[in-house]
Amino acid sequence: MAAMASTVTFSLPSPAIQTSFLPRTHRHPRFNKKRPFNFVSNKTVSCRASNGNENNEHSSSPNRFDRRDVLLGLGSVYGATNLVIDPFALAAPIAAPDLDLCQKATVTSKTAGTIKVACCPPKSAKIIDFKPPKFSKIRYRPAAQLVGPEYLDKFTKAVELMKALPEDDPRSFMQQANVHCAYCDGAYDQVGFPDQELQVHFSWLFFPFHRLYLYFWERILGKLIDDPDFAIPYWNWDTPAGYALPAIYNDPKSPLYDEKRNVNHLPPVLIDLDYAGVDEEISKRDLIKSNLSLMYKQMVTYKTPSLFMGAAYRAGDPPAPGMGSIENVPHTPVHRWVGDTRQPFNEDMGNLYSAARDPVFFAHHANVDRMWTIWNSLPGKKRRDFTTTDWLDASFLFYDENANLVRAKVRDCLDTRPLGYEYQKVDLPWLNTKPAPRRPRQGKGQAKAAETSKTTVISNTFPIVLEKPVRIEVPRPKKSRTKLEKEDEEEVLVLQNIKLDRNVAVKFDVYINEEDGETPTEPADSEFAGSFANLPHTQHSGGKKLDTKLTLPISDLLEDLDAEGDDSIVVTLVPKLGKGQVSIGNIKIEYVRD
Ligand code: C2O
Repeated sequence: MAAMASTVTFSLPSPAIQTSFLPRTHRHPRFNKKRPFNFVSNKTVSCRASNGNENNEHSSSPNRFDRRDVLLGLGSVYGATNLVIDPFALAAPIAAPDLDLCQKATVTSKTAGTIKVACCPPKSAKIIDFKPPKFSKIRYRPAAQLVGPEYLDKFTKAVELMKALPEDDPRSFMQQANVHCAYCDGAYDQVGFPDQELQVHFSWLFFPFHRLYLYFWERILGKLIDDPDFAIPYWNWDTPAGYALPAIYNDPKSPLYDEKRNVNHLPPVLIDLDYAGVDEEISKRDLIKSNLSLMYKQMVTYKTPSLFMGAAYRAGDPPAPGMGSIENVPHTPVHRWVGDTRQPFNEDMGNLYSAARDPVFFAHHANVDRMWTIWNSLPGKKRRDFTTTDWLDASFLFYDENANLVRAKVRDCLDTRPLGYEYQKVDLPWLNTKPAPRRPRQGKGQAKAAETSKTTVISNTFPIVLEKPVRIEVPRPKKSRTKLEKEDEEEVLVLQNIKLDRNVAVKFDVYINEEDGETPTEPADSEFAGSFANLPHTQHSGGKKLDTKLTLPISDLLEDLDAEGDDSIVVTLVPKLGKGQVSIGNIKIEYVRD
């Protein structure tokens, strides 16, 4: 692999690692910033106290601490009286936006300049709290490649009618597409925090926001064709039969068609779920293997809610604390694969502001949503949703099928059945496509890591600007843990303060104990730990860089690589898209409980 020849190897100076194990008391000033006393509830405290993953450097949320902090806080920093009188003491969920303060989105790119996009919804004097109607039967969302002519007639008719609604009807196709633009491109600030953008990606809001968004889209379509049982299709990209862009979206005469798509990726071309902007020469067999391995990794090895669904994001927090597994990959690569590279901002699917103007967006997101339901059903005691009210009570605004403005909460969408739908069941071939090590086990877990690192040791490496592949040795605070310990806490690799301009397309891969070989490391290899992928979007203030983190579970992977007894691992970062445009502030190993 040519690129790897120029790999630079770094060794992380140990003091940098140590900081994560200092008592957290030194962080207290940060908790004082906004609402210092909202940790009164015992329930909330114990819930957070066990969540190792949320103790990240990125966030300035007042809510982040472990039990030690709480005890110290009670005794030495905060007065007990204050603790009981704060009226907001119980939770700090992200609030639904104030439509009166909605602003135009600013869309920018280095090459195409800047455009202003008006994507604020119509206003309404009244907001109704969402309550799903009582559904007498379940609507089954079908796999798009399996639908028959009768269903297709209904669906196309419904979308045609939606496109024909007056422009200012909040249920019209364009208004509906704009809902996504407004929640993704900085049209809203958080209520009460005018300096913090409201963003529904890059955090634990990703799954619930999109579930609700699709629900209302589907209900509007059903209303338009007077069929309350109508269910939207899903793009079954997790199985080979569904890899091509579903054919029903590819008829230029159909309202499901969108001409702003990558012409090299029309059916029957099969999708590469690991797509990074370049079509790789790869056999169909290898593509399937790669896609299935990737699905296995993203679904099976992410075993806790924060790993799967994304990092906590509460009122007052800066946006984008960290994506969950599916949002990152394959959600982002699928967008990018469909987006039209001839368009200035890779419209439609290739940019968040325009993505929902392509009808296939809703099929893509139906499958994303389906992954949430499947993940919940896989074995494992931590495969459950978050239980904190900070998540459950986060809310959004949508227009429903009757053009009423409704406020819906995350807690309204935890289960799809009360919303009246489920997904048509199909095979899940990725359930048994566990990646394998590139080299067979050697018998003893010997640190390839340590050997490599002796050759080139560079200190003071962070932040790293990812221009070419780099190697970093990262110490492991614990080793040879028991099965029980591993079930209790997942070992995770955390890349902190990943900084990039929001409007650039970026993807880089992360390998562990990878060896230079004839062939590049692939998702089908155990050494492939995961990727980071950004889909271009913007913030209205235009300014601030995305500052986020990537958390990759590695317990299973280290077992596969026979590296559990090692003192350190070697992490290789390989930029695939957006070389030189992303920097990484620190890399360390943590243990997540959730
Ligand atoms: Cu809201 Cu697929 O993006």
